[in-house]
Amino acid sequence: MKFTPFVGLVVGSLAGLGASSLHHRDHDSNDYYVLHLDSNTDPDHVASRLGLRNEGQLGELAGHFVFRAPKADHDVVRREVEERRRKRSLGGVDVLDAVKYSQKQKLRAPMQKRVIPSPPHGFFPQRKRADAADDEALKKQKSVMQTLDISDPIFNEQWHLFNPIQLGHDVNVTGVWLSGITGKNATVAMVDDGLDMYSNDLKPNYYAFGSWDFNDNRAEPRPTLSDDRHGTRCAGEVSAAKNDVCGVGVAYDSKIAGIRILSKQITDADEATAMNYDYQHNQIYSCSWGPPDDGRSMDAPGILIKRAMLNGVQKGRNGLGSVYVFASGNGAQSDDNCNFDGYTNSIYSITVGAIDRQGLHPYYSEKCSAQLVVTYSSGSGDAIVSQFRT
Ligand SMILES: *[C@@H]1O[C@H](CO)[C@@H](O)[C@H](O)[C@H]1NC(C)=O
Ligand SMILES: *[C@@H]1O[C@H](CO)[C@@H](O)[C@H](O)[C@H]1NC(C)=O
Repeated sequence: MKFTPFVGLVVGSLAGLGASSLHHRDHDSNDYYVLHLDSNTDPDHVASRLGLRNEGQLGELAGHFVFRAPKADHDVVRREVEERRRKRSLGGVDVLDAVKYSQKQKLRAPMQKRVIPSPPHGFFPQRKRADAADDEALKKQKSVMQTLDISDPIFNEQWHLFNPIQLGHDVNVTGVWLSGITGKNATVAMVDDGLDMYSNDLKPNYYAFGSWDFNDNRAEPRPTLSDDRHGTRCAGEVSAAKNDVCGVGVAYDSKIAGIRILSKQITDADEATAMNYDYQHNQIYSCSWGPPDDGRSMDAPGILIKRAMLNGVQKGRNGLGSVYVFASGNGAQSDDNCNFDGYTNSIYSITVGAIDRQGLHPYYSEKCSAQLVVTYSSGSGDAIVSQFRT
């Protein structure tokens, strides 16, 4: 099974408020606008001045409200606000003077999952089949499994957690586990294409309250499209339970939430809400996606998404700050570079690149000045295994 270059970073801390209320959106009949208003302005006054319906605050963004309007070709808010600006010199009071920013929402393609592209033509991985496991390392592996009561059937194949062949080329987590740090009290949100929360390996750690499906407007982020597998795989690397199925996650006692945004068209407003979803409890937002890795796209989060990330960093996790982790990108073959991606080059995200089980730079993994850390992933003819065997 191939994985995107991501292994969860886990920090501990707790608590705060619950999730914000979410409205169903009907983009066939309605337009939606996000308005940023002066803090002392009643959004209902602005809504009635414009003849729109106030649907409430946008996620966790103070002063930002979603307004609903019947479908129209033009931007009705901008038209009215500009009209008022032209007349402002004539004096008078107008509640529209409180509008600091407005954006008509557009359904657009979702961001792209970071899947590993096939190797370049004529590329032969240096597969070192002949390498044998080290006897001492195998003994240590066995003793760790006994001490921690690990009986997951494919734990022995999880070289990224404990590598008995290329010694030292793993995340060196077993000592951390033995000291009692296994992800307890930590919550990771997988922002992706869904989460198979009823699978035997994720069910014990599933965190329902922090989960939401923004693509299908429902509480459970269940995968529904045949291609909705990426989020579940990434979740397994982080939080697959220690039990008798498959392998374990690097933080096997952590809680895992699923926030589904990659499976259908989405608006910037919904993506912004997703990035702050239950942000007092969801501590880490794992994001293995972004603009296309084609070496030509230069794209960045829209202004509302940027504001949501800043809001998370300043107010999330009870003021400690939400942790946004992004994959650096898998477009190195196309000369892509994570400096050209506004999610990875943001100072509010942690950008993670890949190395393979021999410690080599894999052909797909992008590098750039924003890359803060690398961890193990596919390459040298092997990949990470955690949950599913195909
Ligand atoms: C691996 O982790 C242990 C603590 O669990 C630490 O003592 C050791 O130095 C680490 N090894 C490397 C190579 O960082
Ligand atoms: C988890 O949180 C509880 C309650 O705050 C605390 O008693 C416990 O020590 C924490 N466990 C870890 C491993 O941090």
